[in-house]
Amino acid sequence: MIKTNFKKIILWLCLFVFTAVMILPSFGCGTDSAEGIADSDVANSASFSTDTIYQIVTDRFFDGDTSNNPTGELYDTTDNRKYHGGDWAGITKKINDGYLTGLGITAIWISSPVENITSIDPSNNSAAYHGYWAKDYFRINEYFGSVDDFKTLIETAHANGIKVVIDFAPNHTSTAEYGDMVFPEDGALYRDGELVVTYSNDTEGIFNHEEWVNDSSWENGIYHSLYGLADLNQMNSTVDEYLKDAIDLWLDYGVDGIRVDAVKHMPMGWQTNWLSSIYEEHNVFVFGEWYSGSTDSDSQMEYFANESGMSVLDYRFANAIRSALGTQDMTMRQLYSVIEATESDYNEICDQVTFIDNHDISRFMTLSSSSSSSVDMAYVIQMTSSGIPTIYYGSEQYSTGSSDPDNRADMPSFSTSTTAYQIISKLAPIRKNNPAAAYGTTTERWINSDVLVYERTFGNSVLYTAVNRSSTQGYSITGALTALPDGSYGDILENICGGGTLTVSDGAISSYYLGAGQCAVWQYVANSEDGPEIGNIDPLIGIAGNTVTITGCGFGSAAGSVNFGTTAATISSWSDSCIKFVVPDVSAGYYSIVVTTSSGDSVSDYAQYKVLTASQVAVRLICQEAYTEYGQNIYVVGNCVELGNWDTDKAVGAFFNATSSIAEYPNWFFDISLPAGTEIEFKFIKKDSDGNVVWESGSNHVYTTPTNSTGEASYYFYN
Ligand code: NOJ
Ligand code: NOJ
Ligand code: CA
Repeated sequence: MIKTNFKKIILWLCLFVFTAVMILPSFGCGTDSAEGIADSDVANSASFSTDTIYQIVTDRFFDGDTSNNPTGELYDTTDNRKYHGGDWAGITKKINDGYLTGLGITAIWISSPVENITSIDPSNNSAAYHGYWAKDYFRINEYFGSVDDFKTLIETAHANGIKVVIDFAPNHTSTAEYGDMVFPEDGALYRDGELVVTYSNDTEGIFNHEEWVNDSSWENGIYHSLYGLADLNQMNSTVDEYLKDAIDLWLDYGVDGIRVDAVKHMPMGWQTNWLSSIYEEHNVFVFGEWYSGSTDSDSQMEYFANESGMSVLDYRFANAIRSALGTQDMTMRQLYSVIEATESDYNEICDQVTFIDNHDISRFMTLSSSSSSSVDMAYVIQMTSSGIPTIYYGSEQYSTGSSDPDNRADMPSFSTSTTAYQIISKLAPIRKNNPAAAYGTTTERWINSDVLVYERTFGNSVLYTAVNRSSTQGYSITGALTALPDGSYGDILENICGGGTLTVSDGAISSYYLGAGQCAVWQYVANSEDGPEIGNIDPLIGIAGNTVTITGCGFGSAAGSVNFGTTAATISSWSDSCIKFVVPDVSAGYYSIVVTTSSGDSVSDYAQYKVLTASQVAVRLICQEAYTEYGQNIYVVGNCVELGNWDTDKAVGAFFNATSSIAEYPNWFFDISLPAGTEIEFKFIKKDSDGNVVWESGSNHVYTTPTNSTGEASYYFYN
């Protein structure tokens, strides 16, 4: 605890010095300041909307140093369940030799770098080559290289305009349960070399010890074990502190973003408390894996994406594009309906992360009706759609493999001449240069079951895409409207997929023939004087004193102001496309942030930034003996923004009631992120899906939250 306080003091000192250094030259002394960072700069680790991410299974990309390869049964390049030797030195080489920079990608997402088990998991006959079987989150996986190799990778990436995202799995350690099997490492957790606990000798409640997840409910998925993986109990204060300290260590190496594994399987309140502690020190981009096999709206997933403080991998988009182009069991009309629906279901669609395949699902090329041309078309749509595109390593080489581990095989080649490689290399720069690609809203312009023509607009910038998935039938696109100004436009893909010149007059395109299997992209990049327009605010939650980034266009080169109500924020960096500021000391609540340029033009954020009351702690609230009618659930509402400020629409829940070791009906519980060391007042309510509310009677419950660890409090429901 002393260590933590000391660290906080040092941090405040650093923040003070940093703020002083950033502000004095520009506003104090009247000398010319260096330009603020742009949204497209590698230094913008908060927002990835201008980026294209390349997802690498580190072990399977490139072996840059054979001396770190495991020996014995862990290593076998003919077995996709064993280590193959790929490492950080290999990724560094592929940046330096131009493969990754030539592809145009501007971020890499690498396997979890933490130390994993070094034995074979007998239930899978597999080694931990994938990084999802952690043992010590404070140490590196030596088969991926040394600490120096990791630092070199980060430096090399940054020097080449590439951000680094690490995978991170706080949900579990390694497999510890499968029938009568004996697991050599027993799910053990270490802290920088010292044993914390093993799964079968867990006297402190470091792990949850429920049956396996059966996916019957969100609750079941959180507190049960994911196919035998030792399920960390994040609500235990040792685990909470461990995971906060561990991620801090990795971010201190200069990591720009985190892909959080299995977010559907951890308490959302704990995750918000963890993110809040991250954001107090690091203005980085975080996105979570909420697995979904569907294209439908999922209210819990959307609640998570909109309220937790992190983005999600957009499985709905992936499933839709795979169905429309890979298996052809959805039409292009249905694909567009999903695109339209996600744009309104997510508060910030451009901050969600899109993909067409990954290590957990079939390679796109292996889908039933797929061919290399379907992969090409999928990339054209993905790269020009809302959301941050992620390219799964090898799919630009048309890798195949229907399921784990064959969809994680070695890179088949590093050819720079595949059509997919060419498409990505032509479209990735557009995401940097055309704000319509990074932040635009989508409008359909011509559609049938095979063809989708759409444009994205932001300010006056436009990105116009046409795709015909049919392999036999061409179509004349006639009468399509557009926001493109009058003129002629050449295909950004340089006609490699059959495109040509587009002619526009009076807001309509001239009739255009889109042959079978053809696609094309045209654009107009507006003058930066148009605007201002806000793209994203990153992140969307935080406390006074945190640094936050606004990206968009038309902010002007001279600093203007950022206001929370009547209070102005301190600006630490300002450019035409990116503003960094410090959250002012305003009362907690939701704010429409107003940006005003130096010439007096204003724009306000539509998404609403949530100022939290104070640093957060995770608390388990238990509500006993609350009997409900069919359709009703228990929620909590109270006197702080974290508890909805007495607004029953923003009440927290629905509470859970089916975990035997915690609470079962008529008892309920929920894990919530609350302000630390604060006396809060609240009531439980019964609420149905139409929003009808029955309030608890009696006076408010009063609870003072812990200052620096997790908490638990239990109350009877007052009828
Ligand atoms: C999701 C990951 O993407 C998957 O590959 C992994 O096996 C599970 N989470 C468990 O970590
Ligand atoms: C702000 C734009 O105004 C909105 O239309 C768009 O959907 C989002 N940015 C995307 O993040
Ligand atoms: Ca190696």
